[in-house]
Amino acid sequence: MRALVLAGGSGSRLHPLTSSMPKQLIPVANEPVLLHCLRNIRAMGIREVGIVDGRHGDQIRAALGDGSAWDLDLTYIRQHTPAGLADGVRLAAGFLGDEDFVLYLGDNVVVGDLAGAADEFRSSRVAAKLLLAKVADPSRYGVADVGPGGAVRAVVEKSPTPPSDLAIMGVYFFTREIHAAVHRIGPSPRGEFEITDAIQHLIDTGAAVTAQTFTGLWKDTGTVEDMLDCNRTLLDLLRPGVAGAVDAASAVHGDVTVERGARVSRSVLRGPLVVAAGAVVEDSEIGPYAAIGPDCEVREAVVRDSILLAGAVVRGRPPVTGQITDGRLRVTAPANPSARRSPA
Ligand code: DAU
Repeated sequence: MRALVLAGGSGSRLHPLTSSMPKQLIPVANEPVLLHCLRNIRAMGIREVGIVDGRHGDQIRAALGDGSAWDLDLTYIRQHTPAGLADGVRLAAGFLGDEDFVLYLGDNVVVGDLAGAADEFRSSRVAAKLLLAKVADPSRYGVADVGPGGAVRAVVEKSPTPPSDLAIMGVYFFTREIHAAVHRIGPSPRGEFEITDAIQHLIDTGAAVTAQTFTGLWKDTGTVEDMLDCNRTLLDLLRPGVAGAVDAASAVHGDVTVERGARVSRSVLRGPLVVAAGAVVEDSEIGPYAAIGPDCEVREAVVRDSILLAGAVVRGRPPVTGQITDGRLRVTAPANPSARRSPA
């Protein structure tokens, strides 16, 4: 079995940050979302991975190389126009050949047992197997209507009247039957070749499409609030440890990770948080829920519920809260304190 990761797209909901970087390289709890995906793919026993990338593809290629650092063999496929998920599958036809594959959306974060789902697919070899997750706002996603026994009766994309509250996660298992289906569909009202339409085509032509409700953690990181929510969740799961230099004039509360090579002076650290290698924090208040990236400089600042990208320089006021920033460009979560967790 191979894997196809979709890491193109426009990232429009994370502009202006995504004008200079792909959203899939934005780190949550200091690890790029794309690396979380690749780790899960390797855990499914897969080594051959195709990555569809777009206008920031060169950055993705520079970050991941040939994949050998993760015991993977990566093949890059350039998508010049973000024409939809089914278009990504079309472009990868040569790489995928007749093999079964997992289609993995490069902006999805999943924590849980995907290897078990992959094994079940390997033995059932249905034309398509979907993973579903119950959501409060199904109109934001692809949604499945599932019959008794797990057979999928219909799928719809971002419908104002979804048939259920079961969102289709960005991890799909396919046999080669999908290749004909991605050529039989036209563009959707939003102008994209939707994988949902190709799956519906499989259903309409009598192919077996099944679904399994996923019980682990799943997050589509399409918006800044999704990204920060995911950052909070993964920071909660991080095993704390202070390997970097924290001086005696600093105070540490809660679950704090300071990586080797980071330096913290005269500051208050309130976990959960992570300070990456090479970062310098002075006279500041950090956390809760802050991820300070590698080589950041934070001086006389307050950083809470935020992601600082590698090399970001933050000094003085105003406080950085509910933001993802490289120090110059930033995206800010809409003010909705009730959606946030309260400080530890
Ligand atoms: O996250 C799950 C949802 O993902 C599903 O419930 C939906 O059915 C599915 O259509 C998809 O919806 P999104 O609107 O969230 O997809 P998005 O445009 O964010 O793209 C998902 C990933 O695929 C992301 O890493 C960007 C990449 N992509 C996207 C497009 C449109 C490409 O590589 N090429 C593309 O042309």
